[in-house]
Amino acid sequence: MAIPFYFAFLLFFPIFSQSQTHDFFFNGFNGSESYLSLDNGASIIKPSGALRLTNTSNYVIGHAFYQQPVQMFNKTSSPSPNASSFSTYFVFAIVPPSSGQGGYGLAFTLSPSKELLGGGTDHYLGIFNSSNDGNSSNHIFAVEFDTVSGFQENADTEGNHVGININSMYSEASQTASYYINNTERSRDMFLESGDPIQAWIEYDGDAKVVNVTISPIDQNKPIKPLISRSIDLTDYLLDTMYVGFSASTGKFSSSHYILGWSFSLNGTAPPLDLSLLPPVPLKEKDPSSSSYKPPIIALIVGFCSVTVILLGLLLSFAWHKWKNQYENMEEWELDCPHRFRYDHLYAATKGFKESEIIGVGGFGAVYKGLLPTSANEVAVKKITRNSPQGMREFAAEIESLGRLRHKNLVNLQGWCKRKNDLLLVYDYIPNGSLDSLLYQNGPVLNWEQRYNIIKGIAAGLLYLHEEWEQVVIHRDIKSSNVLIDAEMNARLGDFGLARLYDHGTQSHTTNIVGTIGYIAPELARSGTASASSDVFAYGVLLLEVASGRRPVGSNLFLLVDWAIEAQQLGRFLDLVDPKLNSNYVVQEMELVLKLGLLCSHQKPEVRPTMRQVVRYLNGDDPLPVVDNWSSFDSSQSSEMRSRFLEVISSDMSFGCCNSLSSTVGFSSNSTRA
Ligand SMILES: *[C@@H]1O[C@H](CO)[C@@H](O)[C@H](O)[C@H]1NC(C)=O
Ligand SMILES: *[C@@H]1O[C@H](CO)[C@@H](O)[C@H](O)[C@H]1NC(C)=O
Ligand SMILES: *[C@@H]1O[C@H](CO)[C@@H](O)[C@H](O)[C@H]1NC(C)=O
Ligand SMILES: *[C@@H]1O[C@H](CO)[C@@H](O)[C@H](O)[C@H]1NC(C)=O
Ligand SMILES: *[C@@H]1O[C@H](CO)[C@@H](O)[C@H](O)[C@H]1NC(C)=O
Ligand SMILES: *[C@@H]1O[C@H](CO)[C@@H](O)[C@H](O)[C@H]1NC(C)=O
Ligand SMILES: *[C@@H]1O[C@H](CO)[C@@H](O)[C@H](O)[C@H]1NC(C)=O
Ligand SMILES: *[C@@H]1O[C@H](CO)[C@@H](O)[C@H](O)[C@H]1NC(C)=O
Ligand SMILES: *[C@@H]1O[C@H](CO)[C@@H](O)[C@H](O)[C@H]1NC(C)=O
Repeated sequence: MAIPFYFAFLLFFPIFSQSQTHDFFFNGFNGSESYLSLDNGASIIKPSGALRLTNTSNYVIGHAFYQQPVQMFNKTSSPSPNASSFSTYFVFAIVPPSSGQGGYGLAFTLSPSKELLGGGTDHYLGIFNSSNDGNSSNHIFAVEFDTVSGFQENADTEGNHVGININSMYSEASQTASYYINNTERSRDMFLESGDPIQAWIEYDGDAKVVNVTISPIDQNKPIKPLISRSIDLTDYLLDTMYVGFSASTGKFSSSHYILGWSFSLNGTAPPLDLSLLPPVPLKEKDPSSSSYKPPIIALIVGFCSVTVILLGLLLSFAWHKWKNQYENMEEWELDCPHRFRYDHLYAATKGFKESEIIGVGGFGAVYKGLLPTSANEVAVKKITRNSPQGMREFAAEIESLGRLRHKNLVNLQGWCKRKNDLLLVYDYIPNGSLDSLLYQNGPVLNWEQRYNIIKGIAAGLLYLHEEWEQVVIHRDIKSSNVLIDAEMNARLGDFGLARLYDHGTQSHTTNIVGTIGYIAPELARSGTASASSDVFAYGVLLLEVASGRRPVGSNLFLLVDWAIEAQQLGRFLDLVDPKLNSNYVVQEMELVLKLGLLCSHQKPEVRPTMRQVVRYLNGDDPLPVVDNWSSFDSSQSSEMRSRFLEVISSDMSFGCCNSLSSTVGFSSNSTRA
């Protein structure tokens, strides 16, 4: 009696579904074909009952969605319905091939369709493609479990992370795969591609409008503190009915992606799974020839050979590790830094830091273009040689923190690496070069629309640094050669925070002025203290520069700011306008930019607006304040400034930071090689 009953249980109760409330669970997927819509590479493996989204073929995708759509809005409620709460719990496993790296990951997905037509391979995880990525008409919510680093300008600099994505592969929030231990701040890293089963919980609270994502190893209870807890109102993104399920893809790298069990509840807590009933993780896919029968003698020979090969391999790998450790010279603490790149990868990426790969000589060192061997992503690698290895650890900590800054108007820092006294900073590669080369070099002229867009972009990036990130970041070296222009002609601010980093480990306690002549605010020159307001000053100078097409300091140390004040006082403001524009510009916008330039580069810091105000002025949300007291730019102050600049240039030793200062000065005249 007991045995038949057991089978009946297996046959009829692997799934429990209440069509009304859309609660369901699958303890393994034996016999659940009719409840699921599987396409492309997705299938249920017999006899184990694991759901496979992809096998290890390259460039394949797989989708598995629950057949019935889920009603995300309660239409009868009024006035404006909120998206319903939901909760899901599943166990997945990602098994890389026996040789080398796997890819690219899987995602829990809420989508208007079960088919996700057009879903791309590799980084797109079968959800989006290059043409619809980021389009708000996608109505897709996804939580990605991504194992390969570097999706374009995405936050996912590190592989092995979990991210919340809405309508785009650009993550709203992302975290290295890990879990918190007993509700403390201590976390333990997890390796998504380990091949071991991993539990995941995704919960959306429709009242509080919060998404929580939690993962843990199969032998641990659900961690109390979620890995990601993010305020998001899904009401704005979801449609009335949505399909729930999974999507995965492979690309140049490939893994098998499995779901072993899954439960879901709308407006409730996802039912628990019986972990003992879940299918085991299927074994690595074998070479078909290895399964065929071989006579014992051949097996013996093969066995003998393989033992020899294994021994040889062990010996070689031992020697290699010894050699490599010496080569990489890693210190213990470096192992904990997720943004650390391997030296040999960067060496290969830049063809051994070959001179022909140099794309610029920046404030702190040469910049190389590189192609990462692991992800085939283009990057810019900045090589900084420091005089002392001291302070490396602080430096690394700071970089780790800057590496988390993400904004579309910043040149995102992907990571770093050190070797002896060399520090290597890895940035997104931005194709169109720097703003100063576009302004001053022969070639296509930036039109006014592009310039205005660039001005707004820089303001947005700077506002993010000053006010919108978790801590205040003072840029300290805003100038046209630090603004890069991407393929869509948007501004991307580079080198942020670097100046302060450079101070770490220098013994002198003199305040170091880091900045570039012509952009240094008077109070900064006097006191050496950089502030958000001195960044605003430099931004003001940059505005005048973009409008006038002239460098902040002329050949005879004539200051652009002085000239602008003069023109303003003579009522001939528009004389400043860059003649290359051929009078093709919007007069109101031009006047706004010139006036705002003067306001920002006002001698008195208290008169300068904050970046938030600047953004409001540029958007036309607020009118520019009327400043008639331009006389505070009295000529004595200007001449004081001028003589200070002269001093700096003529005496190399006068400031604690002469090295970096003189090299930044060098940068403005020698920025990018074509
Ligand atoms: C993956 O599955 C497809 C069929 O769905 C099969 O043709 C292919 O050989 C499989 N690849 C591997 C590596 O097993
Ligand atoms: C969700 O559940 C709460 C009570 O648990 C109920 O008040 C609410 O109406 C439910 N909403 C939907 C859309 O089912
Ligand atoms: C929908 O909302 C109405 C009013 O808020 C509530 O009475 C009803 O129970 C909700 N429906 C469901 C399925 O929860
Ligand atoms: C939607 O949520 C907000 C709180 O975020 C609440 O004030 C409002 O009443 C909700 N609307 C409905 C129809 O439940
Ligand atoms: C991208 O996906 C959309 C469907 O969302 C499809 O219509 C389009 O053809 C796809 N584009 C490419 C380049 O595959
Ligand atoms: C977004 O997708 C819709 C429908 O596929 C299309 O009409 C629209 O042009 C797309 N928008 C952008 C910015 O690509
Ligand atoms: C943390 O949790 C584990 C089991 O989950 C338990 O054995 C351990 O005692 C806990 N530690 C603390 C400090 O609560
Ligand atoms: C999400 O996590 C936060 C922080 O731990 C917690 O307060 C909240 O109750 C969680 N919400 C859900 C829906 O689990
Ligand atoms: C799935 O069904 C097969 C028989 O078809 C059985 O051998 C296997 O144990 C089942 N798996 C699970 C996890 O119940």
